[in-house]
Amino acid sequence: MIPYVPLERRAFRLRMGLRPLEPSAWLEFDPDADAVLALRARLIGVERDRVVALDEAGREASEELCGVVLAHLARWHPERVAPVGDDHPLVEAARLVEEDLCVMVREDAWRLRAAVVCFPSRWDLREKIGATLREIHGPVPGYEATLGDPVDAFFDRVAEDRLYGRLNWTLLETPELFAPDAARTAPSGDLAGWYFRVERQTFRRLPESGAVVFTIRTYVAPASELAARDPSFVATLTDQMASAPPATRAYKGWVGVAERLDPRRRAASPPDR
Ligand code: HEM
Repeated sequence: MIPYVPLERRAFRLRMGLRPLEPSAWLEFDPDADAVLALRARLIGVERDRVVALDEAGREASEELCGVVLAHLARWHPERVAPVGDDHPLVEAARLVEEDLCVMVREDAWRLRAAVVCFPSRWDLREKIGATLREIHGPVPGYEATLGDPVDAFFDRVAEDRLYGRLNWTLLETPELFAPDAARTAPSGDLAGWYFRVERQTFRRLPESGAVVFTIRTYVAPASELAARDPSFVATLTDQMASAPPATRAYKGWVGVAERLDPRRRAASPPDR
C-alpha cells in the first residue's frame, strides 16, 4: 500500500507545497525494493536513450551526487550499500536507489543537466535535458504565472544542509512505473481499472558544486483499494478534479472523470472542451 495519499480537502490550487524533511528521510526503501531496483537496471539497459540523459555540464555534480548517495546509504540504509561500477556516476547512483535522480545546474537559469528517470509519467526526458525550469514546465497550465518565479527563487536559496519535499498525484489507467507514453486523455472505464499515482519529490543542494538534486519517488496503488480503505477517498478525489481549472483538467487527463465517478455532478457542471 502506498504511504502517501496527498489529496487536499479544499479546492484545487497550483502550489509549491514544500515541506522540510529530516536528513534520514531523503531516500525511501520499501519491501519491494529489490524488484524495483531490478526493473530500474533493466530499463537502464533496454530503454537507455529514454531513461538516461547526460550533459557534460552535469558531470561534476553527478560525481558529487554519487558520493552523497553512498554516504547517505552507509549512514541510514547500510544494507543497501553496493559496489559502484564504471558507468556514468549518476547512472551508478540511480541503480542503488528507488528514486529517479535529476541534477539541476545554475547557469543563465537553472537547467536540467543530468538525469536518470526510469519512471516518467506522460513526459519524455529527451525533450527536457538542457532545459530551464520554465521550459521543462512549459506544458503545465498556470506554471509560468503562479510558480515560475517562486520555484526559481527557491532553487537559488535552498541551503545545503536542508532538505525539502513535495507530493504530487494523478490517476492513470496503467500500474506501469515506466509510463512516458501514457495518454493525456481521461482514463476509460471507472475506478476499478484505475491507478492512483503519487510522486514524492525531494530537493537538496550539493555543497561543492552548488547544483540542486531533484529526486522523484513514484508510488502506484489501485484506486479501488484506496477507496475501500478510506470512505472519503472518492469524494475528495472528485472534489479536486472538479475544482481544477479546465486547462488543468485537460492537462491531467481529468476531463469528465469526476462526473463519471459521481453522477450527482453531471447535472451541476458545464461540459469541458
Ligand atoms: C519546487 C519545484 C517544483 C514545482 C513546484 C513543480 C511543479 C510541477 C507541477 C505542478 C507539475 C504539473 C504536474 C502535475 O500536476 O501532474 C509539474 C510537472 C513536471 N515537472 Fe515539476 N516542479 C518542480 C520542480 C521540478 C524539477 C526540478 C524538475 C526537473 C526535472 C521538474 C520536472 C517536471 C516535469 C518533467 C513535469 C511534466 C511536464 C510535462 O508535462 O511535460 N519539476 N511540476
